[in-house]
Amino acid sequence: NNYIIIMAGGIGSRFWPFSTKETPKQFLDILGTGRTLIQQTVDRFTEIAPKENIFIVTNKDYKGLINEQLPFISDEQILLEPGRRNTAPCIAYASYKIQKQNPEANIIVSPADHVIVKEGIFKDTLREVLYISEKEDVLVTLGIQPSRPDTGYGYIQVNEESRLGSLYKVKQFTEKPQKEKAIRFLESGDYVWNSGIFIWNVDAITKAFSEHMSNLAIAFNEIADDFYTEREQKAVARVYQDCGSISIDYGIMEKAQNVFVKPCVIGWSDLGTWKSLFDISKKDDANNVLDGDIHVYNTKNSIIKTPQDKLLIVQGLNNFIIAEKDNVMVICNKDDEQRIKEFVSELQEKE
Ligand code: GDD
Ligand code: MG
Repeated sequence: NNYIIIMAGGIGSRFWPFSTKETPKQFLDILGTGRTLIQQTVDRFTEIAPKENIFIVTNKDYKGLINEQLPFISDEQILLEPGRRNTAPCIAYASYKIQKQNPEANIIVSPADHVIVKEGIFKDTLREVLYISEKEDVLVTLGIQPSRPDTGYGYIQVNEESRLGSLYKVKQFTEKPQKEKAIRFLESGDYVWNSGIFIWNVDAITKAFSEHMSNLAIAFNEIADDFYTEREQKAVARVYQDCGSISIDYGIMEKAQNVFVKPCVIGWSDLGTWKSLFDISKKDDANNVLDGDIHVYNTKNSIIKTPQDKLLIVQGLNNFIIAEKDNVMVICNKDDEQRIKEFVSELQEKE
């Protein structure tokens, strides 16, 4: 009864200019391993669920990329969205569709762009959680030990006293806190990061939609008869036209009372930003990550990625991102990297 939902419709704008609307980072081999991030993600789950039970939710524009990179995923398993509405509608669409196929489904929801180094521990952890989520009305997320006051993550306050097997009850879930709050959370030692990898049975998640996002529950229940027919695309387009854009974290995880966390050490990283790539990459003696024909002088703590056929000389730089691809170059202080998302959306508004 195990099913996987892979969310692959983001544009990864904080990773601009390498990640673009045309080819978002999940379809790129960012780590130079020979496999793109989405290919690595799917590989990770083939031992957990049968291939036919892996569903990919993405924007209609990326169907070609999915077919090309994941030829063993059939078109019935690719759920195409007519627009970008963040992760709550994406998860609702897949959940209600899976529910129709198998009302007993036990589901793992995963982003398409994460790195997990300790694959063995990751799989054991999932099996352990699936065993619990199969029978319980719980919403489970994997928790990661935080290492810095990053404002791009969800923060989870753990209740040490209340447990369900090896899961801890979540006291409070705070999505993307302001810097001061993130610092406080980190210093208190009570918090873990939300990995964004969720485990629940289909009853538990559809019940949560009914309670906290009833507009989505009603809309998808109404079109349930259209799933697996040629009317599906049109029906989904109607739902997406009326539903707002909101993430599962704000829409459900912050509100639900039956959220549990499984803290784990799996070598996890959300390759969401330049800093996250910096963190997991090999550095030179001055703590720089350099990729390209780059000569650095008196430069440290920086990540620089430029085309091989372009010579770059850098002098006197500390803690910067320099990224050049095609006809775009970004130079940004590493501490302000979350702002790259704003810069990209400003440009798009002007388009
Ligand atoms: N299908 C679809 N449609 N997928 C989407 C959409 C959409 O409209 N928007 C985003 N996604 C996909 C992204 O491609 C990514 O794989 C995943 O959903 C998560 O979206 P992000 O935009 O990367 O979320 P985030 O990193 O800001 O925050 C989430 O992940 C953090 C950990 O990496 C939250 O769950 C945080 O709480 C969490 O800490
Ligand atoms: Mg992310």
